[in-house]
Amino acid sequence: MPATCVIGLQWGDEAKGKIVDLLSADFEMVVRYQGGANAGHTVVIDGKKYAVSLVPSGIFHPGVQCIITGGAVIHPPRLLDEIKRLRSQGIEVGSNLLISDRAHVIFPWHTETERVHDALRCPEKSIGTTMRGIGPCYQDKAGRQQAIRIGDLYRSNLKERIAEIATEKNMMLAALSNGSPFTPLDADAIYQEFSGYAKELEPYIGDSTKILLDAIDEDRRILFEGAQGALLDIDHGTFPFVTSSNSSGAGISSGSGVPGKRLDKIIGVLKAYNTRVGGGPFPTELDNELGDQIRTQGNEFGTVTGRPRRCGWFDAVAARYSARVSGADCLAISLLDVLSGLPEVSICTAYDIRGKKVTDFPSHVDDLADAKPILETVPGWDVDLTKMRSAEELPASAMDYLKRLEDCIGRPIEIVSVGPDREQTMFLTSSYA
Ligand code: IMP
Repeated sequence: MPATCVIGLQWGDEAKGKIVDLLSADFEMVVRYQGGANAGHTVVIDGKKYAVSLVPSGIFHPGVQCIITGGAVIHPPRLLDEIKRLRSQGIEVGSNLLISDRAHVIFPWHTETERVHDALRCPEKSIGTTMRGIGPCYQDKAGRQQAIRIGDLYRSNLKERIAEIATEKNMMLAALSNGSPFTPLDADAIYQEFSGYAKELEPYIGDSTKILLDAIDEDRRILFEGAQGALLDIDHGTFPFVTSSNSSGAGISSGSGVPGKRLDKIIGVLKAYNTRVGGGPFPTELDNELGDQIRTQGNEFGTVTGRPRRCGWFDAVAARYSARVSGADCLAISLLDVLSGLPEVSICTAYDIRGKKVTDFPSHVDDLADAKPILETVPGWDVDLTKMRSAEELPASAMDYLKRLEDCIGRPIEIVSVGPDREQTMFLTSSYA
């Protein structure tokens, strides 16, 4: 399919990076269209581990044009570090990376605002963000007056703009600091620093919208890579415990400029269980030894922040909702191998919310917080799946589990991943041959 999208359907960390890397060989372009360095995508090639945060996971395939569009937010020093790290690992990053001049820039005032705001919250109310300045940058994008886009870094009034914004931000930060010691932002130093980054980034900058619209008209093969997951979507996720961009399928068009009707296929990626990092309700959470076992077996620690991920049973109510809201045509199930050794596995097929059985995903976070999972328990399997390469090799109980997920979500599973390496993948249809 010429325009294919890979979207996470849970709270992020679904192993989208692996799926994108796997499919990239078949595409001419791989596009990151929302989020920023809050994402961490891991790719394992021949046993060697690589991590990308903002650079599209297609970068590991020579000849693939990687694009970061205007829907993303960019912290230039982090991006430059990422490029340097990839190069030091022998990965080519040059004209194969294009960065939109429409993307918004994360400045020190964004990370500082996030830190100060977070310190004001009691821990239970904290969103538990990645502290990468993502929310404050998107806030300024929506507010417009204090926003600077990548293209603005090359305008003659940059110094003035930075001075103007830094003055306003200093007033705001001083007020929020409420008398505690506070180091004001130094507009001149920020200007010097960011002018340097602008020079380094210049060779990569372009109009990604035009390039993508031309490519779509020419029927070129484009793979869109979602970051985070649909349940973290600012509009359709578990608000306010979400990220600040449209991380469901809704973000593809707004973030890239490619109209929704030009997209051919959406692949929704789901772990064989659920995880969540940061705050917010999680009805199927296993805050017990079983949860610890899944965390250890799945190495469930954040790629970006190193935080332990909360683990729980597969939530089919949430998955069905996010597959629908993202327009998923089919599914990729990752980390199936992690469940090996459990005598039984459970799937949440409905919620009990204050005594009422509910099968629709609640729109209000308080209802989700009160939701008790109604679980269906099926037999587990006790064999190592990591060396299996085709669905025929899977034990019957693992296959039954997958079939049950398909039934609950109402979409076919086309890809199953049983380990981090490219090789540890099963394709359940011939369309990827
Ligand atoms: P932010 O995106 O840093 O503002 O964080 C908002 C929420 O989204 C927090 O709960 C984060 O832990 C979560 N989050 C952001 N990016 C990711 C990701 O790539 N994977 C998983 N969770 C994420």
